[in-house]
Order: sequence, then structure tokens, then C-alpha cells
Amino acid sequence: MQIQTQVQLKPFNTLSLDAVASHYVRVQSVEDIQTALDFAKAEQLNVLVLSGGSNMLLPEQIHALVMHMDIQGIEYIQDDAATQTLKVGAGQVWHDFVLWTTAHQFYGLQNLALIPGLVGASPVQNIGAYGVEAGEFIESVQVYDRVTEQQSSISAADCHFSYRHSIFKDEPERFIITHVTFKLLKHADLKLNYGDLKQAVGEDLSAENLQQQVIHIRQTKLPDPKEFPNVGSFFKNPVISQHAFDQIALQFPNLPHYPQPNNAVKLAAGWLIDQAGWKGKSVGSVGMFHKQALVLVNYQDATLQDVRTTYKAVQHDVFEKFNIELHPEPVLFDTNGLIRSHADQ
Ligand code: EPU
Repeated sequence: MQIQTQVQLKPFNTLSLDAVASHYVRVQSVEDIQTALDFAKAEQLNVLVLSGGSNMLLPEQIHALVMHMDIQGIEYIQDDAATQTLKVGAGQVWHDFVLWTTAHQFYGLQNLALIPGLVGASPVQNIGAYGVEAGEFIESVQVYDRVTEQQSSISAADCHFSYRHSIFKDEPERFIITHVTFKLLKHADLKLNYGDLKQAVGEDLSAENLQQQVIHIRQTKLPDPKEFPNVGSFFKNPVISQHAFDQIALQFPNLPHYPQPNNAVKLAAGWLIDQAGWKGKSVGSVGMFHKQALVLVNYQDATLQDVRTTYKAVQHDVFEKFNIELHPEPVLFDTNGLIRSHADQ
């Protein structure tokens, strides 16, 4: 393990922002994490944990130790007639892991194919797509707890998974995720309820075909970060009260919406942004993608400031038109490697 200085993070964040880390280390084991934390303590540096970089907004200079997660491996833990439990290193590429599960006939994650990022990030925002959330198949999450300075295992129940949320978002500086333990099914139970997925899958009700169709839908709507740097959905879909929805629906009867528990309604942020005139629109080098208005794209050498100018303009216009606040999904960092609020200037 080697600590490097002045490392360019552009290749390691999918929005391709120019960001230079004063200190950088790649960690491949829990021992590496401990050594890196000791170094940071001695040098009085904050630690920024970098996973796949597909959900973060980085400033141009970061005075901190950037810890790049690279713990590999898939371990068979336990099985019974119906399930297989697997413990997976946080540094495994998520999509490759999903393909691996399908090839080995372990089922559940097929709807989550092609989501960018690494396995270790999957519990943090409880990644979800096409009617499935990762939390449904996570049994526990193995962490290094920076408060107790011990390794521990957090059960799925204690992770408090909900829409794009978990305890790892509530206490972002505390836990370093080292492994994720999944309990997958040996017999496929296809989830085809989302949008036109059922139609896309057609007659071939195999998990392999479901996975293929999800990949196809994503490829037709969502930009490939290698071609158009992006962080997936830039905003969360807003969840509002039924009462507030009824008011808006009077004026906008076509508003796509999804009923939620507790008298709440989830709206499609992509539709709101589209209707506010932002689909395919840019300010300078940053704009909202022409095929999916919820995805912000860095078209050329944008800085964090350029990104913020664009997304604040989008928030402003959506609020003016619909009186709805959009909240960004990616995590924003300051120059000391600490998480900062999107509301800050
Ligand atoms: N829509 C528009 N215009 C647009 C985009 C969307 O009118 O430019 C409408 C669509 O026609 C549809 C509705 O908005 O009626 C929802 O669109 P879509 O099915 O594409 O899904 P989404 O709500 O925009 C969410 C997730 C995606 C996930 C898809 C599929 C969030 C924030 N985003 O997007 O997740 O892939 O559903 O499940 O929940 C991600 O988080 O990075 C991500 C891509």
C-alpha cells in the first residue's frame, strides 16, 4: 500500500470533474484501511472514501486523504434449498457482480444491471431501478467503524433502508463499508411491474432475458459516462403529500406519479425538469441530457462551480413552475474532503 500525493481524480469520478487530491491511497484489505487511517490521524487529514465515484461532486482541490476502495472477492457463505448467501468485497464493480450472479443462477439483482459504481456503494443510497432496491437482497453490511475503531456487521434491519436512503447517509463519516452480504434466490421471481418492462421482456420469462432488457432500456435512455460524463439521476424523485399532489394535479393532470405508503405520492423529477424546459438544455458545458432530463451531463471540462450553476437554475425553474423543491442525489464535498450541504453558497 502506497500513499501518493497530488493525484488527479478525474478518471475516478464519473462526472469527470477535475479534482486533485493532496493525498491518495488504494486500499485492498481491512488492514490497509487501518494503516491509512493511522496515517491520516498522524498527518491531521480528513479521510474521503472514494468508491466508484458515480455519486459524488468534487471540488478542484481536496486537502485530505482520499481512500479508494479496492477490496475484491466473492465468498460463498451459506446456502439452503431456496437461497444462496454471498459476501462480496466493496471494491467489486456492481454491474460485473450482477452479471456474475445471473451466470451462476442466483436471482434478485437482475433489475439492477448496468447501474454504475461499486458493490460497497450499493447499500449507502440503497440503489434501485425498475421496481427493485438493493436493500431487498442485502442480508448485512460489514464495516470498519471509525468511532469504535472496530470491524462490525450491521444487519439489513439496522441499515434502515428506504428510497435512496440508509443509516450510511445519516452517519456518512462513521462507517467504511468493506463487504456487503447478499442473500439471493435460487429460483427466479421476476419483478416486471415497472413501466413497460413487462412488455420489453415479452414471452421469454427468464432472468437472463430480464437482465438483457434492463440493460437495453438503460442503454437507450441513459448516457454512458465514458461518452457523456454523468452521475445517473441527478435529483431524487420528490415525495409529497397526497393533499399537495391533488392541488398540483388540478393544473397538471398528466403528471406521472406513484402512490407511496402513508398517504404520500412520488413524482417523476425527470418529467418536472422536462416540462420546465430543461430537457436537452445546457448552460455552458453542463446540461440536462436530451433523452432523460433527470441526468446532468458534463459536456466538456466543467468545474464543480459550472455544475452548481446549472443545477441551481434547474431547481429554480422547477420550483417556479410547480412549487416543488428538487433535492440533488450526489454527495457534495468541500476542499477539506468533508461532506457539505447543497444549500451552502
Ligand atoms: N420523464 C419525462 N421526461 C424525461 C424523463 C422522464 O417525461 O426527460 C417521465 C417518463 O416518461 C416517465 C417518468 O418521467 O413517465 C419516469 O421516468 P423513468 O421511468 O425514466 O424513471 P425516473 O423516475 O426518471 C428512476 C430512477 C432511476 C432508475 C429508473 C428506473 C430515481 C431518482 N431515479 O428514474 O435511477 O433507473 O427510475 O427504475 O429514482 C439513478 O438513480 O441514477 C437512476 C438512473
